[in-house]
Amino acid sequence: MVANSTGDGAAPAAAGAAPFVPGTTPTDGPLLQLRDISKSFGPVQALTGIDLDIPVGEVTALVGDNGAGKSTLVKCIAGIYQPNGGQLVWNGNPVQLHSPKDAADLGIATVYQDLALCDNLDIVQNMLLGHEVTRLGLLNEISMELTAKQTLRDLSVTTVRSIRQPVGSLSGGQRQAVAVAKAVMLDAQLVMLDEPTAALGVSQTELVLGLITRLARRGHAVIVISHNLTDVFRVADRLAVLYLGRLVATGPAAEFDPQSVVDYMTTGTSGRLGNGSLSQPTASSGFGTGSEG
Ligand SMILES: Nc1ncnc2c1ncn2[C@@H]1O[C@H](COP(=O)(O)OP(=O)(O)O)[C@@H](O)[C@H]1O
Ligand SMILES: [Mg+2]
Repeated sequence: MVANSTGDGAAPAAAGAAPFVPGTTPTDGPLLQLRDISKSFGPVQALTGIDLDIPVGEVTALVGDNGAGKSTLVKCIAGIYQPNGGQLVWNGNPVQLHSPKDAADLGIATVYQDLALCDNLDIVQNMLLGHEVTRLGLLNEISMELTAKQTLRDLSVTTVRSIRQPVGSLSGGQRQAVAVAKAVMLDAQLVMLDEPTAALGVSQTELVLGLITRLARRGHAVIVISHNLTDVFRVADRLAVLYLGRLVATGPAAEFDPQSVVDYMTTGTSGRLGNGSLSQPTASSGFGTGSEG
């Protein structure tokens, strides 16, 4: 939908040189690789030289202060924005995402804060919206209901009384759960959540954090944006810290402590930890350029 393309003709133009086929085994290595991704809005350089690997089966928390570029990065992966430079690599294949549909077709699902659910529709209808199961041109209600029910059960979403209740009657955490279940049901390989707990109370937050963990354990790759470092350390296997549009640190969550994350978020550097171990570019950690360090 954005007019200007990246202009580097090297990559295949189609989204998904090799679309993921559910039931097949993806190639080894990260599900998604970001290579030198940059994005500007006129004079505003929102992202610069982002190199990041997103593995399956793990939760990668994307953290950073307001304006650091978190949402922009997620939108580049979601096909909403096209990067000005760099390359997305999906299952080892360079891809260009021209639209959210391109991303969805690959298996990338995004759960935004405003959730985009229809209050007046029930849970099944919301989960299947746009993906209605039809047999001979008729809505297959029974199949849809079974699919929705099974997905919620798989995710251990047990607090919903009836899957035929309108989404408008659900709590914030339940709504978030339905949005996540919807994403998962559509064979999403990568699920991205932008501030999923921002509007939630304590028990609702527990529900959603549990859900995020289960998504990863079920073999999805998960990217979660959060301001809440307590939540981040509860669910994240890996952290990626953005500062002024640059990736300043990435690695296993265990290599960070809350103060070091705050340091990276607010100054772009931290003296607390073996800075070197985090800043060494290694193939597995997918650390950014390190050139600014
Ligand atoms: N659509 C846009 N047009 C112009 N500038 C934008 C747009 N979206 C984001 N920005 C700018 O890009 C930078 C990163 O924003 P954003 O990705 O929303 O940060 P975060 O999600 O980390 O708070 C900010 O300086 C923001 O003002
Ligand atoms: Mg944001």
